Amino acid sequence: MSTALVRPTSLRLAEGQLTHLERVEVDIGLAQSQWDSYCDTLATWGFEPVRVPGDDDLPDQVFVEDAVVVFDSPAGRLAVITSPGAESRRGETDAVAETLHTLGVEHTRIDLPGTLDGGDVLKVGDTVYVGRGGRTNAEGIRQLRELLTPRGFTVVGVPVTKVLHLKSAVTALPDGTVIGHPDDVDEPGIFPRFLPVPEHGAAVVVLAPDTVLMAASVPRSAELVESLGYRVVTVDVSEFEKLEGCVTCLSVRLR
Ligand code: GLY
Repeated sequence: MSTALVRPTSLRLAEGQLTHLERVEVDIGLAQSQWDSYCDTLATWGFEPVRVPGDDDLPDQVFVEDAVVVFDSPAGRLAVITSPGAESRRGETDAVAETLHTLGVEHTRIDLPGTLDGGDVLKVGDTVYVGRGGRTNAEGIRQLRELLTPRGFTVVGVPVTKVLHLKSAVTALPDGTVIGHPDDVDEPGIFPRFLPVPEHGAAVVVLAPDTVLMAASVPRSAELVESLGYRVVTVDVSEFEKLEGCVTCLSVRLR
């Protein structure tokens, strides 16, 4: 069975970072039950959820994808502990590193002055697109490139100015087609195959070669993905979307 790192919802989720959205009321009980359903869905699709211990003083901790990125190549598995671009999120990485250690996963780090959020990293085959925006800087991209080039990856920097993270704008279907709402994407021409979708936040998590997970808030985009021959499983992540989260940022999948 594959595993998925997840981290519980902080009771202070409503105080999480906001960049492009207005702050609105968050229902913490609903957030917790949405998180449970999200974890159950991953388990149903073969990803055993592994919990990183929570700390309520880290409001954004549930967005565990930002704290680590995992790369598999013929050279083996490498987990890269990130260097979060928001100061309030810098305390999130140590517990993630400790959990990886207990799983026996080798890891290294991006160091300051480099900053890099996992939400800015989109892997498509051996190409690694990295969003250069409010959270990830040039030095963070440089360090990641230095780590990954010897492992056979090509790191491509992508300007991100319209949304929080690269993966707030684009994600990739199992066939490598990059999807996103055109208004959120600075440079769609950078991707070899780009498919516009009708809704903002229409991210996909690949559950299986023919199956993706999408948010309940993007039904027209889900219909479009289904029309391309994929099965779409949906989860409601409304309380996390209020904090600029989406289906990708709530887990790190280790296949
Ligand atoms: N609320 C998620 C973030 O801004 O990092």
